[in-house]
Amino acid sequence: MKNTARAHTNIALIKYWGKKDADLRLPLMSSISMTLDAFYTDTSLIIDTEDKKFILNGQEVTGQAANRVFAYVERLQKLFNVSGNFHVISDNHVPTAAGLASSSSAFAALAASFVKAYNLSISTKGLSILARLGSGSATRSVYGGFVKWNKGTNSSNSFAEVIEEKPQMDLRLLAVEVNVAEKKLSSTEGMKLAQTSPFFKPWIARNDEEIEQMETAIKNNDFTKLGQLAELSASEMHAINLAAQPGFTYFANETLEIIKLIQELRNNGLECYYTIDAGPNVKILCQKNSCSDIKKYVKNILPNVKIVEAGFGPGITYLY
Ligand code: ADP
Ligand code: DP6
Ligand code: CO
Repeated sequence: MKNTARAHTNIALIKYWGKKDADLRLPLMSSISMTLDAFYTDTSLIIDTEDKKFILNGQEVTGQAANRVFAYVERLQKLFNVSGNFHVISDNHVPTAAGLASSSSAFAALAASFVKAYNLSISTKGLSILARLGSGSATRSVYGGFVKWNKGTNSSNSFAEVIEEKPQMDLRLLAVEVNVAEKKLSSTEGMKLAQTSPFFKPWIARNDEEIEQMETAIKNNDFTKLGQLAELSASEMHAINLAAQPGFTYFANETLEIIKLIQELRNNGLECYYTIDAGPNVKILCQKNSCSDIKKYVKNILPNVKIVEAGFGPGITYLY
């Protein structure tokens, strides 16, 4: 039976960064993302095993990361009234916990694998809700293309929907891997701290307008508007973090160097924008014909960074 599920990571263009219910992972804002082809997670849930194990990239994981996975599977077991030990076997084709959205593909793939392993019939909407319980951003990785997560008001109406599954927009993402070590402050903890920032509330108040503008940019195939809005959303999130009490930042020196480069390239007529998640790595949004020039300019200032080029990826698939 096919219960190895593949889910692709997604990068938010309008960010999710704050919860109103931590246990249910209900967000304080709606968000919009693009699912990527270049980064993904494959996960198999093997049920009715003798013991409980989490194996990531071929190695057994213990401690906090394993507890998060065990608690998640046990939560789903309770929801569906099933029980028993299990092994979670997962391969990340994305750096783990480095701000490249590993939790989005991880929990979407795990939710999908759970549903298959127990032969449950569930809609894609239902799967999006289950994925959300593991990691908020995972709610969007159930779908491909441009995806919107409507914040909703409770667990049954907070899920993602497709805006465009196979977008025609000329849009590429260059993931500049500045540092792929596991971050010290998880996204879960970072977004909790962010709520102490005086800029948090005003940002939430802008969410409806930002979502509406991004949807319009997508509908109008307007790369410029999409890039401007995505960069603004990321800048707002990181400014909020700096002004939190206590303040913090996910930026490394190289993060700022790349931001400055992007501003300079733009001033010189090479159109590109940045978005950054909970980590030091920068994702550059650009169009096909400028990718190779931009890569060259980044390499000029940071010769040792790896740059991964990505386009639109699909939703959940089952491998075998
Ligand atoms: P990221 O920016 O990579 O999404 P997060 O802090 O949101 O970082 O989440 C990282 C955590 O997600 C890891 O510490 C681990 O608990 C979990 N995770 C990552 N990959 C997997 C996987 N393949 N299977 C299960 N859990 C995973
Ligand atoms: C900056 O979904 O990783 O990537 O729900 O606590 O697991 P938890 O957090 P997570 O947060 C993602 C934050 C972000 C923005 C985004 O993906 O929308
Ligand atoms: Co995450």
